[in-house]
Amino acid sequence: MDFASEIALLKKQKNAVILAHYYQVPEIQDIADYVGDSLGLAQKAAQTDADMIVFAGVHFMAETAKILNPDKLVVLPDLEAGCSLADSCPPNDFATFLKNYPGHTVISYINCSAEVKAMSDLIVTSGNAVQLVESFPKNHPVVFAPDKNLGGYINRLTGRNMVLWDGTCQVHDILTAEAIIKMKMQNPDAEIIAHPECQAPVLELASFVGSTTALLAYTKKSDSRKFIVATETGIIYQMQQASPEKSFLVVPSDETCSCNDCPFMKLNTLEKLYLAMKNERPALEMDETLMNKARKPIERMLDLSVNLGLIK
Ligand code: 13P
Ligand code: SF4
Repeated sequence: MDFASEIALLKKQKNAVILAHYYQVPEIQDIADYVGDSLGLAQKAAQTDADMIVFAGVHFMAETAKILNPDKLVVLPDLEAGCSLADSCPPNDFATFLKNYPGHTVISYINCSAEVKAMSDLIVTSGNAVQLVESFPKNHPVVFAPDKNLGGYINRLTGRNMVLWDGTCQVHDILTAEAIIKMKMQNPDAEIIAHPECQAPVLELASFVGSTTALLAYTKKSDSRKFIVATETGIIYQMQQASPEKSFLVVPSDETCSCNDCPFMKLNTLEKLYLAMKNERPALEMDETLMNKARKPIERMLDLSVNLGLIK
């Protein structure tokens, strides 16, 4: 079956919009109405007038779309597409942890469950985290969850001392400075760029650190012809399309290891996406009270991002 054509037909019939993250396989990125980072995807989800949102990403992203559109149908091609970072912050444990920090503002990275969002004052993404944290006074007490690598990066960059939840992304956390140094020695002309979910020694080697959208934009404007890209492999597709004359090396470059493919993101396939649109499931079903609580910090993030000129 020609899934791409069938998907195009279903899109019209069902007034659907397909939102895809940069870590999706190329064939999904190709048929999406919008491909972006978590911030762009949340904004698109907030703005859409489609009846059906097809979320080609992972569960917390589809959940965010549903929270912003409680009356719309939101489908995810594979409901098993979770996130190790979101899983590293179980809601009950987080609630207990927060009891130790009364008076703290709770800022959570969007890679978390709806329950954790409901316990948060503000949601951030890698595309706005630094600026949104900086919108609070330097000595303002903050708990940052769940990514300790991103939180640590913001602490170092802004001279803050936010309390960090001990969570990580299994894809970014295993990328090592040693592997990157080895690659750099073999490719001295390559520029190192990294996603802030990587560990501190990796980020210290990078000449640019940013969200997937920011990394893509950087590769377009940089004069370098070669890049060592410390993030999930999916983004390379867009980088290569935007700059065919440049080359992009993934970390680790060892062909026997695909550990920097996110196993959750890669669960989605074109066939599963087609079936989700056709059958209108798996669909996100969420408790209304939970959605109402989780919506506030997400909307606060979107409003602040507009006010700070980070998005339009
Ligand atoms: P961004 O695309 O927002 O940078 O997020 C990366 C990521 O790990 C999403 O799961
Ligand atoms: Fe989660 Fe990491 Fe996969 Fe992103 S790359 S979805 S943070 S496990």
